[in-house]
Amino acid sequence: MASRWSPESWRAYEARQMPTYPDADALQRAERELLSYPPLVFAGEARALKAELGKVAAGEAFLLQGGDCAESFAEFHPNNIRDTFRVLLQMAVVLTYASKLPIVKVGRMAGQFAKPRSTDTEEQGGVSLPSYRGDNVNDIAFTAESRTPDPQRMVRGYNQSAATLNLLRAFAQGGYANLHQVHRWTLDFMGRSPWAERYQALADRIGEALDFMAACGINPETVPQLKATAFYTSHEALLLAYEQALTREDSLTGNWYGLSAHMLWIGDRTRFEGSAHVEYLRGIGNPIGIKCGPSLEPDVLLRMLDTLDPAREPGRITLITRYGHDKIEKHLPDLVRAVKREGRPVVWSCDPMHGNVIKAANGFKTRPFERILAEVRGFFAVHRAEGTHGGGIHAEMTGQNVTECTGGAVAITDEGLADRYHTQCDPRLNAGQSIELAFLLAEMLNQEMKEREKAAA
Ligand code: TRP
Ligand code: MN
Repeated sequence: MASRWSPESWRAYEARQMPTYPDADALQRAERELLSYPPLVFAGEARALKAELGKVAAGEAFLLQGGDCAESFAEFHPNNIRDTFRVLLQMAVVLTYASKLPIVKVGRMAGQFAKPRSTDTEEQGGVSLPSYRGDNVNDIAFTAESRTPDPQRMVRGYNQSAATLNLLRAFAQGGYANLHQVHRWTLDFMGRSPWAERYQALADRIGEALDFMAACGINPETVPQLKATAFYTSHEALLLAYEQALTREDSLTGNWYGLSAHMLWIGDRTRFEGSAHVEYLRGIGNPIGIKCGPSLEPDVLLRMLDTLDPAREPGRITLITRYGHDKIEKHLPDLVRAVKREGRPVVWSCDPMHGNVIKAANGFKTRPFERILAEVRGFFAVHRAEGTHGGGIHAEMTGQNVTECTGGAVAITDEGLADRYHTQCDPRLNAGQSIELAFLLAEMLNQEMKEREKAAA
């Protein structure tokens, strides 16, 4: 893969998981339209995120990445964006407080539309139609018209991403994320959970500390870090026609960036050798995530790192591991050792969602919360044993009060799944489960910090 890279060089490689558009002219029109639009993010922001991730790789920060499995046109609503954002803020506060580390906040938002599928077509009642590939490709309804890939959906996805990102920037910079609001981020429906109470207690302590500092002259006016936060976006770089159209040359550095989001990741199904997706990602300067599952052999990963990160740039690569609660401690050590041996400065992030999907007795696809927590514990246990930094979490979650994953403090049962099962795709943690997860992470990080202090003493 050492040949010349260009935004379209991926077209000469094997591109899996791509929709087949029936109208080539319509596809070209949509691509040209997108190419003429402003990028969604600025290259300098992607570099800033890379620098922050570089700190994570060095053990000096922690990555919090979360959002929907798939965004949808139907659920596009300001309250959904606000609620997911505020749960991420709450999680960030819990994690900052416990670890005393800066938390790098990245939404799986403002562009997470396209989905990989196990088959090109879906069969129902003897009828075969193209599989649903995400709202920026086709519609989920099982009719020939809905399932026909429509390139204008990429344009609609772009517009929804732009509006979402605009609101996220407003929240992050405009006062909503001010630390003095720490009590107000709590969601009404969380009232009864014990974790909501623990959050309130923590918010009280932070409030007191802020009051004390204000009396000393340290307030949001004198120290702007208190009133704003950096919030970044990310999605799977799956739909390459879309990504190519938003790939731009940075006028400051002359380098290429994928400017549909700050961070892009490559999935388990498109990271094979000779893949068009790998070819695309190797040429852009953004931070890149790689999903790592049980099928990924260490030597294959190392070759992929040679391709995607020849310069060994800290923060360039985030390895997002997703093994399953009962496999992580068996598989992860080999990967960690191989990467460590090569001296590669990667971020290790735990996706405890994708390896823990089961079918409930009543047919719902779910994820038992206990298994999610067990994978997180396993992740930290491995990194503790290997002497590496468990650097991040990658969660599918929402600020809505959904019932998609079983378990948690306000226990959702198999029967309860039917109440508010709204996901377009995979089951997400609800707000209460997300906070509970944050407290477990806080405990793990706190332990890691204490052990570090002990080792240094
Ligand atoms: N700017 C700091 C940060 O982002 C502090 C901060 C401001 C913060 N608002 C926040 C931290 C909301 C967590 C959540 O880390
Ligand atoms: Mn998913």
